[in-house]
Amino acid sequence: MINETEQPFGVYVHWPFCRAKCPYCDFNSHVRHGGIDEVRFLAAYLTELAHLASLAPGRKVTSIFFGGGTPSLMRPATVAAILEAIGKHWSVAADGEITLEANPTSVEAENFAGYRAAGVNRLSLGVQALDDQSLKALGRQHSAAEALAALSLAKRHFGRVSFDLIYAREGQTARAWGEELARALEHAADHLSLYQLTIEEGTPFAARHEAGTLHIPNGAQACALYLLTQELCEAAGLPAYEISNHAKPGSESRHNLLYWRGHDYAGIGPGAHSRISACGTKRALSALKSPEGWLAEVEAQGHGLASDETLSAEETADEYLLMGLRLSEGIDLARLAVIDGRALDEERLSALAGEGLIRCNGGPPHPKGGSC
Ligand SMILES: C[S@@+](CC[C@H](N)C(=O)[O-])C[C@H]1O[C@@H](n2cnc3c(N)ncnc32)[C@H](O)[C@@H]1O
Ligand code: SF4
Repeated sequence: MINETEQPFGVYVHWPFCRAKCPYCDFNSHVRHGGIDEVRFLAAYLTELAHLASLAPGRKVTSIFFGGGTPSLMRPATVAAILEAIGKHWSVAADGEITLEANPTSVEAENFAGYRAAGVNRLSLGVQALDDQSLKALGRQHSAAEALAALSLAKRHFGRVSFDLIYAREGQTARAWGEELARALEHAADHLSLYQLTIEEGTPFAARHEAGTLHIPNGAQACALYLLTQELCEAAGLPAYEISNHAKPGSESRHNLLYWRGHDYAGIGPGAHSRISACGTKRALSALKSPEGWLAEVEAQGHGLASDETLSAEETADEYLLMGLRLSEGIDLARLAVIDGRALDEERLSALAGEGLIRCNGGPPHPKGGSC
């Protein structure tokens, strides 16, 4: 029996506002040209935090993540107030990882010192591309020069810095991506998130893709870019520890690892999810996605939760399996068996291993040598 209450525990804070909506993005992010009442939102975050703390008493917080949307649009004082409240509801590990996702416009970079003073010790910057033409095509609000300036400022303020790039973009060749990634690796600190462009339903990119006016690499070309990514990052000492995430050993995102390893977390803010274990079962909770709808619910009833269900042992095991398969460390079959008493079918495992689709117990690498 695993006592989840002794395992890592994270707090996620979702800030759902952005300066502009990027045409590829389907995250729960919204533009409010008239501005928002940040004081009122802060009060609601603190209220919902108190509610979630009552559902997960006595836990030790090992990581906190401000994600979005664009959390770097939050005032440092808002971040500080949320961190202070987290510290009052739970104990926070002395070496707790506190990450904030930031967009690299020069205006947002002005807040970095304030975030550091508030307690943030890791910054994740959404650079996305290293040339102005690609940034424009992605609908970004910053230039390449601004991104590099924000990156070097971030490295001065924070012990740990990561940045995101999107590849397999419109018209991107393997040569172009190889050169861009080599430059990125020169600037990298301890962590990089490298995402293949996904065409998300309902976005302007999806409409253009359907209309045949957005030409992105096909499956085989994108696969070649992925393999090139693995090769260059590994050679630079930042191997992949997850499908899209690369780090110097020991610098992996502890917060994201907690999701992929199936541990508990409390999420606050519009659309945030939580997983909370108690008495041998796991609860899955999620909040209303609409920022104003969420705000009204929190003010009326103390939380903005829209769903709350207890996961069966089978559902918990499936979630652990699906999340764990993203990691290069893989999943622990003994832990899986403890969760729902099932063992995976040996015959099917051997068949998948024979196909080179999985590796069992540190077995031989992909027999096809990682080809497309
Ligand atoms: C929550 S988002 C954004 C954080 C921040 N607002 C930003 O844009 O930099 C986290 C990351 O997801 C990635 N992302 C979002 N939509 C994507 C898509 N359709 N395809 C690939 N990556 C995507 C981007 O790299 C982005 O930095
Ligand atoms: S990619 Fe980031 S900045 Fe762009 S809309 Fe999505 S969350 Fe907002």
